[in-house]
Amino acid sequence: MSNDIVIEAWNTILFEKFSRFKYLFIEGYASISEEALKRHCPPIGSRVLDVGCGFGDCTMEIAKSIGEDGTATGVDCASNFIAECEQSAADDGIKNAHFFVADVEVDDLGGPYDEAFARFGTMFFNMPSLAMKNVRSALRPGGKFTQVVWRKREANPWLHDAELCVQGIVPVVSHDDTDAVHCGPGPFSMAGADMVSDMLKATGFEKIQFERFDTDICIGRNIEEAIQFALEIGPAGEIIRLAGEEGERLKGEVIVALEDVIGKFEKEDGLFWAPSSAWLITAYNPE
Ligand SMILES: C[S@@+](CC[C@H](N)C(=O)[O-])C[C@H]1O[C@@H](n2cnc3c(N)ncnc32)[C@H](O)[C@@H]1O
Repeated sequence: MSNDIVIEAWNTILFEKFSRFKYLFIEGYASISEEALKRHCPPIGSRVLDVGCGFGDCTMEIAKSIGEDGTATGVDCASNFIAECEQSAADDGIKNAHFFVADVEVDDLGGPYDEAFARFGTMFFNMPSLAMKNVRSALRPGGKFTQVVWRKREANPWLHDAELCVQGIVPVVSHDDTDAVHCGPGPFSMAGADMVSDMLKATGFEKIQFERFDTDICIGRNIEEAIQFALEIGPAGEIIRLAGEEGERLKGEVIVALEDVIGKFEKEDGLFWAPSSAWLITAYNPE
């Protein structure tokens, strides 16, 4: 199965959407990756691969934490993300962060690396077991892979409640029934601990562990922004986009319905904070 459609989506429509909400992603997700990197901190001087690095903020955090003798390397299938990573690292004078474009499922990832890390970078793989195998092959014997993925939909209402709301209004078009580019399996594809641990085991990893991490994340500074974020990002946004003209026609109705769904996340500081829940998964390449 070719990844061309998914790669095109990440390089075009999804890159544009993520860029529009970059500050929400970087600030919102930072608390989750900080916790993952606090619990699973790569040692000073290590060589670390950041899988599906997006804007490269984790790659650069890792680069700072491992010292100048270490190297953090971000890989992403979308050249637009990688161009932005290179610019940010140059602007911040981070010399031990490097980036390259590759499809993690099939391309040579270089290495060997002491560790691999992925914050929400592995849930969109068309064939995740190919990607896991490829990442393991790029690790040294005994190397560690730390992944952050979303737990179940119901524990992430900021995505799921908006998805349910949109599903009640807009006809759902499956990936198989459209020529439109799409993001791949989606944010909850790695939520099942049994399935993911079986997959990691089948691809040769050992000492597989899951730790749950729950935190509230900011999804907007006002109701308009929080609704726009829900409409453009995640499953709700994908349903509307894939529904084409019908999705556009029904958008007004969706926005009115989302006022209640998203409005409930407003907190005393005037910002919109929603509960989120992630797995921090660790696994090792055998010695
Ligand atoms: C949800 S974003 C996460 C980005 C970043 N890690 C973060 O936490 O902000 C998923 C990333 O995975 C990348 N991606 C998806 N499929 C990929 C593949 N087959 N190979 C490499 N990168 C891929 C996308 O381009 C995108 O940047």
